[in-house]
Amino acid sequence: MTTGTPQPPIDTSRPHSARVYDSLLGGKDNYPVDQAVAEHLPAEAKAGAFQNRAFMNRATAWLAREGVDQFLDIGTGIPTAPNLHQIAQEIAPASRVVYCDNDPIVLRHAEALLVSSPEGATDYVHADVLEPAKIIEAAHKVLDFDRPVALSLLGLLHFLPDDVDPLGIVRTLTAGLCPGSYVVLSQGASDVNPEGGERGSAEYGKGGIRLALRTREEFTRFFEGLEIVEPGLVTAPEWFRGTPGPLPEFSGVYVAVARIP
Ligand SMILES: C[S@@+](CC[C@H](N)C(=O)[O-])C[C@H]1O[C@@H](n2cnc3c(N)ncnc32)[C@H](O)[C@@H]1O
Repeated sequence: MTTGTPQPPIDTSRPHSARVYDSLLGGKDNYPVDQAVAEHLPAEAKAGAFQNRAFMNRATAWLAREGVDQFLDIGTGIPTAPNLHQIAQEIAPASRVVYCDNDPIVLRHAEALLVSSPEGATDYVHADVLEPAKIIEAAHKVLDFDRPVALSLLGLLHFLPDDVDPLGIVRTLTAGLCPGSYVVLSQGASDVNPEGGERGSAEYGKGGIRLALRTREEFTRFFEGLEIVEPGLVTAPEWFRGTPGPLPEFSGVYVAVARIP
């Protein structure tokens, strides 16, 4: 489903991951149920949200400078400037970007994601990542899958417990991409600050959100068969190309960018 179809209702009786994240980032598109979760999360959660966003910014700019001009971003979140297309199009104005999220509040704010440069294009797909083939099919409207695409799932994998087969989902998505494409992933870590991670999982759990933090080794499995680019699989503040980084680690978020051979 793309924008233009009837708007699904926003459930304000229980927290949603997009709105908790918006609250952590200091946004206004969240409700008391979301704020209650955000306030009880360990202090690192806020730093993690900002560092995750800053990584998206650096990785997108690097990809655009490498010549990538097509992006498929799943689990986009509530718009927060700069959004991915603004970063890419500032460097490569003809960049084409497809966003996807399953939260009604993100759909409600999707207009902000659809303001493209005149040379480029953006689109929004309201869909669940549990149906990856449908997302790829919808993205064909805007993206040319015979040319490299940068696929990003940022801050999303830790909302996908193993029983929904996140590895299989990422494999299905990458199977639709040609060689020279990239995969950009971030994931909350269970082994960087284990105590904080457990507290965070418990707080999300109280709101009915299952958090699946992963070890470095577990996160590494998402990149099997792919070529992880420099600086490798690191935490968000450590992912820098050139100056000034890396920064000290306070995020508890693993990240990596990998190329499809
Ligand atoms: C923590 S936010 C990350 C936002 C953005 N990618 C970023 O890194 O700044 C996670 C996003 O994933 C979305 N999400 C969670 N489960 C999803 C699913 N099954 N399908 C699609 N999106 C999902 C949420 O609605 C939310 O917007």
